[in-house]
Amino acid sequence: QVSNGDNPAVTHLSIQQGDITRLAHDAIVNAADELMLGGGGVDGAIHEAAGPQLLEACRNFPTVSNNIRCPTGQVRLTPAFKLPSRFVIHTVGPVWRGGDHREPELLADCYRNSLWLAECAGVRSIAFPAISCGVYGFPLKLASEISVQTIGERVAAGTSLERVDLVAFDTAAYEHWHAALLRFRGEPVE
Ligand code: APR
Repeated sequence: QVSNGDNPAVTHLSIQQGDITRLAHDAIVNAADELMLGGGGVDGAIHEAAGPQLLEACRNFPTVSNNIRCPTGQVRLTPAFKLPSRFVIHTVGPVWRGGDHREPELLADCYRNSLWLAECAGVRSIAFPAISCGVYGFPLKLASEISVQTIGERVAAGTSLERVDLVAFDTAAYEHWHAALLRFRGEPVE
């Protein structure tokens, strides 16, 4: 649990291991690319499970410039179609290029903007994958610190979200997030 500003409600921030496409949260977050036409990894799994209507919904977003429907760090909301959740929030994480191309700031933008859009849509529960930590090559340890810190700050400032889950697909992601959460709470990390 993470204290929630002056709000008496408590937001539950937790980590779980598994497949995000199986979760019946109000919203799940997709690690998409700027063109939003599906791909591999979690993006592929979400499109596969949601069915072809998701691709149609993504295509309906206008391109903001050549080959870009959703710029890095930004977010777009669609229905979740055949998925058990209600919405998919598509965000585009940064490609890791050594760390001095604003990758940390852009990754924080993904989490911050996803939370903001979820709140706007009346979402109470949201699940995140490890954005950028697959094909885009973002180091897991740094990404887990950034995600926990960004979500924790949002919660501390007061949020209508009741439940935020970080969904690790593998043990390494689970362990890094677990350690980051302990550090954020000021508890000893084994
Ligand atoms: N549930 C939860 N997490 C998953 C799932 C799943 N079903 N499938 C994969 N993951 C995890 C990966 O293990 C990784 O930790 O999601 C994390 C993000 O990995 P990627 O999906 O590769 O996303 P990213 O690194 O942001 O790269 C985005 O990949 O497929 C393309 O279209 C996508 O071009 C975009 C790029």
